[in-house]
Amino acid sequence: MSKRLYIQTVGCQMNVLDSELAVADLLQAGYELVDSPRRADTILFNTCSVRQHAEDKIYSALGRLKHVKDQHPHKIIGVLGCMAQKDQQEIFRRAPHVDLVLGPGQLRRLPELLAQIAAGRGPQLEVSLDRNAGHLEVIQQSFQKHNPVRTPDARSTPYQAMVRIVFGCDKFCTYCIVPSVRGPEQSRPADEIEQEVRQLADQGCLEVTLLGQTVDSYQDRTGKRTVRLAELLERLDNVQGLRRIKFLTSHPRHITADLIQAVRDLPKVSPYFHVPAQSGSDEILKRMRRGYTARAYREMFSQIRETLPDAAVTSDFIVGFCGETEEDYRQTVELVRWARFKNSFIFKYSPRPKTKAAELYEDDVPDEVKRLRNNELLAIQNQISLDDNQPLAGRTVEILVEGPSKVGRKQNTTPQLVGRTRDDRIVVFDGPEHLIGQILEVRIEKIDAFTLFGVQL
Ligand code: 5AD
Ligand code: SF4
Repeated sequence: MSKRLYIQTVGCQMNVLDSELAVADLLQAGYELVDSPRRADTILFNTCSVRQHAEDKIYSALGRLKHVKDQHPHKIIGVLGCMAQKDQQEIFRRAPHVDLVLGPGQLRRLPELLAQIAAGRGPQLEVSLDRNAGHLEVIQQSFQKHNPVRTPDARSTPYQAMVRIVFGCDKFCTYCIVPSVRGPEQSRPADEIEQEVRQLADQGCLEVTLLGQTVDSYQDRTGKRTVRLAELLERLDNVQGLRRIKFLTSHPRHITADLIQAVRDLPKVSPYFHVPAQSGSDEILKRMRRGYTARAYREMFSQIRETLPDAAVTSDFIVGFCGETEEDYRQTVELVRWARFKNSFIFKYSPRPKTKAAELYEDDVPDEVKRLRNNELLAIQNQISLDDNQPLAGRTVEILVEGPSKVGRKQNTTPQLVGRTRDDRIVVFDGPEHLIGQILEVRIEKIDAFTLFGVQL
């Protein structure tokens, strides 16, 4: 059997990482990656459930594959990730030509299940338990932690890597599907993480991004003392060869003074916090069950600013959550204007079945209002991003060169490369490809809201 694999990934960085892990396992099992579904024998979708729109897109993509499967019955079509855990059998019902449904807590079984399907054993479904299906330990075990060693060719670049440090989420914000599809919060032991990061650094990896839905609630209780994120960062800062450490996503409640100080004092840790506020209204925050008030968020934010005046702070917002009045929304606008985030991701509320919000509240903000609020808030944020990038013009910054720039690739001239500053700003500059993977200095000459344009020094 030929083993040509195509994988399409949507959603957050967790999914990007899961796809890398899946690819790493399948390369080991003799698969090769191809860049189009047409050339593949196995087509996998790694899916996202956080908003309806993401699911709709996958169901349409699956629909389009129906005739491909009719013509080539031996092609294997698989659905991985959050939608697999959420919809389970429903996926076979809506797309009967799917062969595999595999939840994110069952990823390690992927090669074996694909082999079973190839051997003619029929469609396979493997998901984790529902969160209310029994004792916590049993549910924890059903969301298996899977961290196979990844060679550089299984990662998006050889000098960068994502490392999961917290699985799942226990916050149960009322709008969010993540705690049900990714399972209980579980931190990986610090020793194991340190070992993985050392191994990555030995392979030439310069930057690691530590991942968790609430990365700052990291706590390893397996040793004599509990190890929290600040201490983990300190340990990783000592890893030889490693140059940069990032972490995301943070929950405002777990940003502590010692964490902010660790970020300030550890030379390899990026001065960058992704710490979603979601709303600026206390009433809405309460309904979302975020566990803080707008004032508490501002205090947390001010603490970051006092300790690290130049740190990049970014946020997520949901507009049009159930019951959001014009006044609630204005308070969100006010928070955005006050905080001056480096950038914000803004989403229209999308009710998710089986979440508390979908159960308790009516989705009563009309879509048109959601759209207007989304556009306005985005325009306000973008203006702030643009204004606050201005002072960077003329400055020299250190960047890690990530690869060729997708925007404005010129023909027959010097190729454009793209890199990132320590605080996660994107820099485009002219330079030869052999600079990819290097850390170097560029002077910023021009800016826009999302990109800095520089020249190499
Ligand atoms: N509707 C809209 N946005 C959502 N998010 C999470 N759940 C929903 C939902 N039901 C957003 C939050 C989160 C980001 C990853 O996605 O802002 O921080
Ligand atoms: Fe969802 Fe809230 Fe957990 Fe983030 S903290 S993954 S928004 S439940």
